[in-house]
Amino acid sequence: MSELRGRISGCGSYVPEFILSNAGIEKMVETTDAWITARTGIKQRRITLNEKTSVVAAKAAKEALAAASVSPRDIDLVITGTVTPDMVFPSTSCFVQQELGIRPGIPAFDISAACSGFLYALDCADKYIRAGGVKKALVIGVDIFSRILDWTDRATCVLFGDGAGAVVLTETRGKSGILSSHIHSDGRQWEMLYTPGSIGSNPFEERKHLPGPRNAYLKMKGNETFKVAVRTMGGAIKEELQANSLKPSDIALLIPHQANIRIIDAVGERLGLSSGQVFSNIDRYGNTSAASIPIALDEALKAGKIKKGDIVMFVSFGGGLTWASAAVRW
Ligand SMILES: CC(C)(COP(=O)(O)OP(=O)(O)OC[C@H]1O[C@@H](n2cnc3c(N)ncnc32)[C@H](O)[C@@H]1OP(=O)(O)O)[C@@H](O)C(=O)NCCC(=O)NCCS
Repeated sequence: MSELRGRISGCGSYVPEFILSNAGIEKMVETTDAWITARTGIKQRRITLNEKTSVVAAKAAKEALAAASVSPRDIDLVITGTVTPDMVFPSTSCFVQQELGIRPGIPAFDISAACSGFLYALDCADKYIRAGGVKKALVIGVDIFSRILDWTDRATCVLFGDGAGAVVLTETRGKSGILSSHIHSDGRQWEMLYTPGSIGSNPFEERKHLPGPRNAYLKMKGNETFKVAVRTMGGAIKEELQANSLKPSDIALLIPHQANIRIIDAVGERLGLSSGQVFSNIDRYGNTSAASIPIALDEALKAGKIKKGDIVMFVSFGGGLTWASAAVRW
């Protein structure tokens, strides 16, 4: 009998209806479809005009529960990776618990790891399952970056989109499931990618950051972030391969965080992967932060790109800095 671990028994995703194309962005900042396409691979992104993060998350989670044929009453744990929650508190997971009628009393909490949020949450849920007690966990990645972007800054606003993805992780002793996962962070490099807008530094100061002057929006050192992303994601995949005595050719599908097609291609090249081994949907959604991997997984599954027994690899990179990976046997 294999060791106790989590198995992805269902996946779901949700992206808002409104499509903001590169042509639409051309009307907002000085940029061109040609520049955005060539430098990022992005053609369009989805933007939610009026939905809350928890509502977007609950839509993806509902689909994951249905795909896994699991009732909300059978969920033992909810973990959401997000850095754009509805409120400072309660957590997005608590709102989703209420929205979907998940059993009161179970633990529900959020993890802040920016674009690595989903893999941090998956790692955490898998460890709860391995420790015993949790049989079914709902793991969500959701972000609404459109609300933390400076829509006058062409260097950042073209890159991101909104959405959510979710999986149900079910206890198993079978051969399929999460073989290993690793999460990392390096706080020394936080200034590479961050969004201020904190609770403030002085109890009596006016809360000027709400709803937010320009300085409350996302800031990024694009070039440096690019290089660190390629290096850390390449290293993270190697760590996962090593942990399981696998070779790059054993990977049936790599689902990387969708930040930039040039980052994805460079990571694939470093490992000698063929284009068929690497999944990308960045052209249609841009960077959806914590949602990008579960949205991509859901699309890959629906497109029949993953078969039973396949080795699927996830890898992410984000603000913090954070990076994470997981190896899964389907
Ligand atoms: C942001 C990014 C696309 C910029 O691409 P790049 O090839 O590095 O481009 P540079 O930053 O060197 O900028 C090149 C030029 O394009 C300009 N530029 C930046 N954004 C532009 C835009 N949207 N449209 C047109 N020109 C733009 C810059 O002003 C610069 O002009 P200059 O040479 O006159 O100064 C790229 O660095 C990147 O993807 N970085 C990683 C970002 C990321 O993934 N973050 C999230 C991680 S989770």
